[in-house]
Amino acid sequence: MKAVILVGGEGTRLRPLTCNIPKPMVPILNRPFLEHVVEYLRGHGVRELFLALCYMPDKIQKHFGDGRGFGISITYAMEESPLGTAGAVKNLEEHLNDTFFVLNGDTFTDLDLSAMLAFHKQRKARATIAVTPVENPTVYGVVETNSQGEVHRFVEKPSWEAVTTNMVNAGCYLLEPELLQHIPPRTYFMFEYGLFPALLKLGTPLYAYPSRGYWIDIGTPQKYLQVHKDLLLSKAIAKILGEPTHKTVWLGEGCQIHSTAEVSGPVLLGEGCVLGPRSRIKGPAVLGPGCIMGESSSVEEAVLWRGVRIGKGVNIRKCVVGENASIGDSAWIIEGPVIGDNASVGSGNKLKNDFILWPGKTLKPDSISF
Ligand code: GDD
Ligand code: MG
Repeated sequence: MKAVILVGGEGTRLRPLTCNIPKPMVPILNRPFLEHVVEYLRGHGVRELFLALCYMPDKIQKHFGDGRGFGISITYAMEESPLGTAGAVKNLEEHLNDTFFVLNGDTFTDLDLSAMLAFHKQRKARATIAVTPVENPTVYGVVETNSQGEVHRFVEKPSWEAVTTNMVNAGCYLLEPELLQHIPPRTYFMFEYGLFPALLKLGTPLYAYPSRGYWIDIGTPQKYLQVHKDLLLSKAIAKILGEPTHKTVWLGEGCQIHSTAEVSGPVLLGEGCVLGPRSRIKGPAVLGPGCIMGESSSVEEAVLWRGVRIGKGVNIRKCVVGENASIGDSAWIIEGPVIGDNASVGSGNKLKNDFILWPGKTLKPDSISF
């Protein structure tokens, strides 16, 4: 079975986390997001993967190579300028000669692809769109169906007045190759605004496969934190991380935890983390490899990327801290800020809510308070 993953978006809503790496390489539980997706696809019999690249393609290609190390064959297609979701698939047409999956490259889900394929074949559908319930349909593509599951309307990012159902496009499709003839070559073209509405007009059988499985679009910092929380608290976490080192704590090799430090799970620590005296981590939380926490500092419900250095008496709660950032003594970063890679928060700063410190920037000591 073949699958195309759309990994060309700029990930603007996830900035500053996507300033130095593309969204698919953002770590989820200390592994690039795309590695989780590859494993999931393999679990459903996908053996040939096509990655439609545009933004920072080298970072993805360098990591995955020809895919052999990940148990899958990977072919890359490059877009000089973005071709849109459907244009990106058209670009791979020569490889697609049988029913294939298309996935957005930013959704974490356990939706049953094998059952979706059976559904698609049974209905003799030409295209099947996986749909999932959400609280706010206005930021997704709304998919209206009749009682047989046939799609009769597709509205991308509708206003609240136009919302008629909470079932939205989950960013996962099964397509028959002949549909690609409706996509213009080398042209910016979207499934959401172009192909799906066009197919409906032509009367092509288009079905919606409803999934009640776990599903999240990781495209904003809030959602990025949420997926960590959901996974760390889920029953399936041992399937992803293996058996914990201790109750609900997963320790990487070579971690040094002071005898007075306190770690209450679920917590994942990458290799070589150092927790100083009276430091405290309260899960769900993840520290990347080589993070250092100073005396009496606390991290709660946060995700820290590799090499973050935290001084003494620091308080970090519900935020994301990028690679190799440093946080000075007595700083507070709580309830939503995002600190970019290699940024430096001077001592005594108090940051909260949607504060963003861009990669490499320095905030002088005691400059911000609330
Ligand atoms: N190769 C390539 N080229 N990929 C692209 C391009 C492009 O020009 N534009 C977007 N993508 C990729 C993004 O990288 C992402 O993985 C995926 O296509 C979807 O783009 P987003 O920008 O994340 O779209 P969205 O989240 O606003 O909406 C889409 O996803 C929702 C589900 O999360 C739509 O498909 C909605 O209908 C859907 O509900
Ligand atoms: Mg998205």
